[in-house]
Amino acid sequence: MQTAPTERLDTTEAGLTAAADHLAAGRLVAFPTETVYGLGADARNDHAVAAIFEAKGRPSFNPLIVHVAARDAAEGLVRWSDAAEALAQAFWPGPLTLVLPLREASKVSRLVTAGMDSLAVRMPADPVARGLLSAFGGPVAAPSANRSGQISPTRPEHVLAGLEGRVAAILAAGRCAMGLESTILGLTGTPTLLRPGGITREALEEVLGRRIALRRDTDAVSAPGQIASHYAPAARVRLNATHWKTGEARLGFGAVACDLNLSQSGDPVEAAANLFEYLHRLDAAGAEVIAVSPIPHRGLGVAINDRLSRAAAPRP
Ligand code: TXA
Ligand code: MG
Repeated sequence: MQTAPTERLDTTEAGLTAAADHLAAGRLVAFPTETVYGLGADARNDHAVAAIFEAKGRPSFNPLIVHVAARDAAEGLVRWSDAAEALAQAFWPGPLTLVLPLREASKVSRLVTAGMDSLAVRMPADPVARGLLSAFGGPVAAPSANRSGQISPTRPEHVLAGLEGRVAAILAAGRCAMGLESTILGLTGTPTLLRPGGITREALEEVLGRRIALRRDTDAVSAPGQIASHYAPAARVRLNATHWKTGEARLGFGAVACDLNLSQSGDPVEAAANLFEYLHRLDAAGAEVIAVSPIPHRGLGVAINDRLSRAAAPRP
C-alpha cells in the first residue's frame, strides 16, 4: 500500500505527461471524467489493477470499466457489433459504458473482468480524461475514485478526502460536468440496462430501434453499483420527503424551502450534477439524517432515483 502524499498535478501538458508516466510505471492516478472522478491504472498490469481494489477497499469480484481514447482502441479489446457501432456513433465520447464479449487476444488483466468473458468499455468526453488517455496510449481501468460503498467524487477534494496517500497522483480539475456515473448497457446478449445513468434508456432504445431489458435485482452479476446499499453517505437517507422532520438535513428539489436545493427550477440535469456534491456537503456538516424531496422518475430522474435509493438502502 502506497503511503506517500498524493501528488497534485494540474491539467497542463506537463501534468498530463506526468500522470501518464505514473500509469506507465504501474501506479494509480485519479482523473476527472464528465461523470465522476476515476481511479485509474494500466488495465494490462495485474499489479496496478490489484492496487485499485486495495486502495478502494473493494471486493475483488467486482469488474472494472476500461477507458479508451478512441473507438478503434475499444475494438481491439472487445468483439464489436453493429449495435455497439450505432451506439458509439451516437453517444461516444460520452457517459455510456458498453459491456461486450472480451477478445481473447486483448491484454486486459483478468482482475479487470473479475474472470468474466465480457468487458465494460467507455470513451469519456471530458478533455482532461481524453488528454490523459491519449498521453498514456493504452487502456485505463478505472472505478469511481471513492472508498468502496461511499459517495462518488465529483470534485478533487472528494477524491482526496477518501484516497489521500492511497493514490500516487491526482489530475485536479474542477467539478465533473455531469455528476452521475455512466449508463451501463450490456450487449453480450439481449441489450440490457445494467445501470441507469447520464444517457437515458429511451435515448438508447431510439438508436437501437428496439426495447432494452432491465436488469432484475435477482440477476447474478456482482456489481457494486448493483449492490442494494451503495453510494452511501455517513448520514441515513430518507426518500420522497414531502415534509421535513425536526433535526433532518433537508435536500430539496424544486420550489421548496430546504438546506440545499438540487435544482430550484426542477431541472434533473442540474440536480444530477449537484447530487453527490450535496450529499458530501451535508455529510461533512454532520447531518444524521438527510431527507430528500421526491424526484420525478423521468429521463435523468431515473438515474438520480437509482443512486438515492441505494444511498437509502439498509447498510450491510
Ligand atoms: O461514470 C463511470 O462509469 C465511472 C467513471 C470513472 O468512468 N466509473 C464507474 O466505475 O462508475 P465503477 O467501478 O464505480 O462502476 C462500474 C460498474 C460496476 O457496477 C461494475 O460491476 C460494472 O460497472 N461492470 C464492470 N464490468 C462489467 C461487466 N463485464 N459486466 C457487467 N457489469 C460490469
Ligand atoms: Mg463506483
